Amino acid sequence: MLLTKDAFGKDFMWGVSTAAYQIEGAHNQGGKGLSIWDIFVKKKNKIFQNQHGDTTCDFYNRYTQDLYLMYSLNIRNYRFSISWSRILPDGTGEINEEGIDFYNRLIDISLELGITPWVTLYHWDLPGALEGKGGWVNRDIREWFGNYVSICVAHFGDRVTNWMILNEPLVFSAAGYFLGVHAPGRKGLNNFLAAAHHAALAQAHGARVIKSMQTDSNVGTTFSCSHIEPFTMKEKDILAAKRADALLNRLFLEPLLGLGYPTKDIKILNRIEKYMKQNDENDLVFNMDFIGIQNYTREVIRYATFVPFLQAKIVSAKERKVEMTSMNWEIYPESMYHMLRKYNAYPNIPPLIITENGAAFPDVVESNQVDDRKRIKYLQDTIVQVSRAKQEGVKVNGYFVWTFLDNFEWAEGYHPRFGLVYVDFQTQNRIVKSSGHWYANFLK
Ligand code: BGC
Repeated sequence: MLLTKDAFGKDFMWGVSTAAYQIEGAHNQGGKGLSIWDIFVKKKNKIFQNQHGDTTCDFYNRYTQDLYLMYSLNIRNYRFSISWSRILPDGTGEINEEGIDFYNRLIDISLELGITPWVTLYHWDLPGALEGKGGWVNRDIREWFGNYVSICVAHFGDRVTNWMILNEPLVFSAAGYFLGVHAPGRKGLNNFLAAAHHAALAQAHGARVIKSMQTDSNVGTTFSCSHIEPFTMKEKDILAAKRADALLNRLFLEPLLGLGYPTKDIKILNRIEKYMKQNDENDLVFNMDFIGIQNYTREVIRYATFVPFLQAKIVSAKERKVEMTSMNWEIYPESMYHMLRKYNAYPNIPPLIITENGAAFPDVVESNQVDDRKRIKYLQDTIVQVSRAKQEGVKVNGYFVWTFLDNFEWAEGYHPRFGLVYVDFQTQNRIVKSSGHWYANFLK
């Protein structure tokens, strides 16, 4: 099926997403404090080939050209994140005026070009000074975060109305505080449960802070999600898949909607109670204006005795011998359709916006061109699935491609390229890939 954007109606928002640590570079310029990612990447063997984001796309110095490039590709919605430690080098206390100026210019130029800013307040780069006080494991983070959010609204709220509170709280609490594979590299169930609960509290608190300061704000938050299927129809696998679904797809959404944590399906979550105080259950609830969903693939799950707490494991795309991206994720665009249907089925769910979707492939530059047909097909096929869900009545209002520029892909370093625009990290030269031209044409 060949789709045009008209099929989605004129109010549907099309855009691209990025994140501060992945593109800005200038990690110690402009008065910025170090974030947990600036610190984590310097530890040995945490990141592919010990790479880091000190410079990455140098967006901090090149944002004007990059915004013009975005404009030339007909992109009119731009989701980016603010680096907390650029605004507050110590996480709290003194404001760094140079950081405020940077985001002011970024917002102003976007608006001059007719590009609407969509601001993520937290995309994983916690100020290192706050990690020194326990980071997300310390309950005070709710107030630290609320203070930072209020500073952002006070400085940018005259021009920004679209806010996303957190980027994928499950990923930063699980990868950063349970598995130790992302910053700050902490491990263990207690760290994870505390971090998860405090992230859920901060999420609702941050949204309340914005609403109290800006009546016309459009506030959401974003969740990673994957369609889950059991490996076989054996009861053990079906139950394992259910537990994985509760963890990967429901842990942060359900308390926000007032349904509490999905403890029935993962018993271990009962231990979160240790961190709950009076009123927390109510404080976790907030009526967002939209929910951002970020979907890349599906997961196939089987029962596994030896996996602690969950007794479930992912059957990798490699093992299943299915087609994969450079992240070793199965190419499975229907996952988007299933997730839209699943989230839309919750009573009182606000409209959904796809705040991230995309694919990494081994791009090759030939005669100054990158002919990334696989990415075009992936994006087209996913957009067809979005349209299918929309036609069946799912309230979905937007789609943002992950991502604009090839960038620093966290623990994977620079080898997975997700961009519509190719970046040569030696020269900082940009080449619009075929997918970038395709998107520009689709958006025309
Ligand atoms: C994150 C991005 C990341 C992308 C691809 C999402 O989990 O929000 O920062 O680059 O997926 O892995």
